[in-house]
Amino acid sequence: MKILGIESSCDETSVAVVEDGKKVLSNVVVSQIEEHRLYGGVVPEIASRRHCESIVKVTDLALEEAGITLDEVDGIAVTYAPGLIGALLVGVNFAKGLSLAKHKPLIPVHHIRGHIAANYISNGVKPPFLCMVMSGGHSHIVEVKSYTEFRVIGRTRDDAVGEAYDKAARALGFPYPGGVEMDKAAKLGNPKAYQLPKPRVDGSQYDFSFSGLKTAVLNLINRANQKGEQVNPNDVAASFQATVCDIIADRLIRAAKEFGYDKIVLAGGVSANSGIRSRMEAECRKNHFGLCMPPLKYCGDNAAMIAAQGYYEILDAKTAGMDLNATASLSITEENFRVV
Ligand code: KG4
Ligand code: ZN
Repeated sequence: MKILGIESSCDETSVAVVEDGKKVLSNVVVSQIEEHRLYGGVVPEIASRRHCESIVKVTDLALEEAGITLDEVDGIAVTYAPGLIGALLVGVNFAKGLSLAKHKPLIPVHHIRGHIAANYISNGVKPPFLCMVMSGGHSHIVEVKSYTEFRVIGRTRDDAVGEAYDKAARALGFPYPGGVEMDKAAKLGNPKAYQLPKPRVDGSQYDFSFSGLKTAVLNLINRANQKGEQVNPNDVAASFQATVCDIIADRLIRAAKEFGYDKIVLAGGVSANSGIRSRMEAECRKNHFGLCMPPLKYCGDNAAMIAAQGYYEILDAKTAGMDLNATASLSITEENFRVV
């Protein structure tokens, strides 16, 4: 079964063709990062306009690279939630148009389910497993019970981990998006140079709070400025990264033990982080857990992961009609469309 996937929830316009949820026939990603960098973050109005301009061309390219026509596609999967509403609407309405014109099933895909599905491409991992989803907007520990059943056991109470990376990076003078810059700088610094807090959260032992960590970095920089001194950005990045690794490894290993999982999976843009990847490798080896991480090219936003998840959604008969709408905010456990 060949699924055309469409992703436009943030600042990447991407279209892919994936066969049986695994074999990527094409995955075209057009990033708008250069333009948003001028403003230090994603400007929603610009994102929507660029999606409108690129989506037809990106779709043509994806079909051409896959060597098929729209008539040979078995379904149109599209990210319908969560994300920037104007950006999501471009993909959703375009997908509705294709579905209507070509009489193809329309498959709504939750963006975070897509990030998890990046692991089904090439890793061969199968549910059930415990997954840490880390992106610019999400930090969740999720029980993936099947391809379409999820339970969230921990979430951030404030900033997502990617957001904390980006904000700390900005304060240190790194360009947007700062996560990858912090990762590079961390390799050059001393992780023990600064003691940063590891906030605990009342109520759930698996919830996160990353805003305190980000604020600690801002305070460090401000205090140094007041004394006419400067922090060493590489040392701050290394200390920040070591603290994030401690927090994530602690929650994930404890959760896997408590809920009886022997497989841990990472997903989302921040799962590209070299420090987190090597720390989780070491922790999983020590604790005899299997570990799956998406290949780097599928960590960030892309449509191959949407097409992969779309395959499992259609197997579960989760198709929508022309009344499908985009939703800016939606839990991974929810579905906000009428099944037809
Ligand atoms: O999944 P994603 O591409 O988009 C969202 O769904 O949010 O994640 C983007 C986030 C950004 O915050 C970016 O800075 C972060 O992932 N990121 C990283 C790295 N690569 C991307 N954070 C830390 N280390 C990296 N290597
Ligand atoms: Zn994403």
